[in-house]
Amino acid sequence: MADPTTTAALLAGAAGTTGTATPVIDLAGARKTYRTGSVEFEALRGVDLRIEPGEYVAIVGPSGSGKSTLMNVLGCLDVLTAGSYRLAGEDVEELDEVELAQVRNRRVGFVFQQFHLLPSLSAVRNVELPLTYRDTSAAERRARAVTALERVGLGDKLDNRPGELSGGQQQRVAVARALVGEPDLLLADEPTGNLDSTSTRDVLGLLDELHAQGRTVVLITHEQEVAARARRTVRVRDGLVVSDEVGA
Ligand SMILES: Nc1ncnc2c1ncn2[C@@H]1O[C@H](COP(=O)(O)OP(=O)(O)OP(=O)(O)O)[C@@H](O)[C@H]1O
Ligand SMILES: [Mg+2]
Repeated sequence: MADPTTTAALLAGAAGTTGTATPVIDLAGARKTYRTGSVEFEALRGVDLRIEPGEYVAIVGPSGSGKSTLMNVLGCLDVLTAGSYRLAGEDVEELDEVELAQVRNRRVGFVFQQFHLLPSLSAVRNVELPLTYRDTSAAERRARAVTALERVGLGDKLDNRPGELSGGQQQRVAVARALVGEPDLLLADEPTGNLDSTSTRDVLGLLDELHAQGRTVVLITHEQEVAARARRTVRVRDGLVVSDEVGA
């Protein structure tokens, strides 16, 4: 059932397809103002951020500094109030809601702290979901989902529902779901926030592997230990980038 072409494509990841120098993320002068009644709050106050294909970047900062706001913008879940955002060369600010949803589906794979799996669906059906919005046959969807689950070490849990899996296994299903559509960007918001230390190591090891294979990974985290796994650390405070360092 496994199609070798699909398997190769999935394993090769973004590295094989990004021969150009187009950054995956190109954010310039990014501002985000929230309005609550008559009160305005500027959660992003002029952020410039460029992330190249294959980078592994941690975004860190205190509570309320704007990390989730930034993640929502990067993942096309929300739009800027001012400034520009290009995702893999595409000018996101120009798009309407429907186009934005399409870009999100095609270009971004999400991993959240709470896993966000559908409890009534098996692991393989959860992983197939992002492909249902595409022009892909049922057989191919299934084959790609199986390959993605094998990739995260869950080839023996295809038919288990989330409630029949450990937290770490559920998060690996979420990683498989994020990868199945071969996105340009893997975006993870506190992906180990709900995991014990063993599962944390597991999931971080998986992200390391994906990075080694050329995936672009952006991780938002509170935890220094988690941030230390990334090659580059971007620190956010009060809606601004206050440092941006590439580690050893
Ligand atoms: N929908 C909203 N409406 C109004 N203000 C908001 C909204 N979302 C976020 N904010 C405000 O914007 C600021 C940044 O919030 P954000 O959620 O991005 O912080 P964060 O860095 O992710 O924090 P945490 O580490 O606690 O998750 C906060 O002061 C928050 O109160
Ligand atoms: Mg947050």
